[in-house]
Amino acid sequence: MKPLSLLLLLFAAGCTEHSQHAPPPAPSTAPANPVQAEMRLLSATLQSAVRGIGAGDVRSVEHELHRLHAAKETTEAAIRSGSYRLPRNPDRVDRFRELDEAFHGGLGGLVQASRRNDVAATAEALGVVLRGCQGCHSEFRP
Ligand code: HEC
Repeated sequence: MKPLSLLLLLFAAGCTEHSQHAPPPAPSTAPANPVQAEMRLLSATLQSAVRGIGAGDVRSVEHELHRLHAAKETTEAAIRSGSYRLPRNPDRVDRFRELDEAFHGGLGGLVQASRRNDVAATAEALGVVLRGCQGCHSEFRP
């Protein structure tokens, strides 16, 4: 077999493999709490940043991030009032706040880049933001 066809075969096999591990579809039910609402908004915002990077126009990202900031405030209030309880390590609220603050600080870089419509800087800032997801999830997501 020629190396190219072998490569294509491997590629096809790889795709089949991936289709068995496709990510679950976006939940169709309403978010059960403010953190789920914030997280869904966050995911949608970052997806739109990816589209903007592809299209060469990232100006809408800044506006979407402002809505996300409002969602963060709602989360903060719910944690403070006790109406939201972290699903894992609920006794480590201070640590959660610390990670959340650092994470939203990283979003600031995305706001700046988007405001300048600087596509390259938006891509860099997006990378920084994405690196923050797993750190918090590993401690606080069920
Ligand atoms: C500071 C902590 C923190 C950070 C940072 C964080 N998350 Fe989350 N995320 C959570 C917690 C806590 C939950 C579980 C919420 C629940 O079910 O009560 C969650 C749940 C989610 C969910 C499921 C929402 C649902 O509808 O059930 C998605 C999607 C998600 N996060 C995406 C992300 C992405 C993408 C990033 C990074 C860009 C991120 N999160 C960063 C804390 C965080």
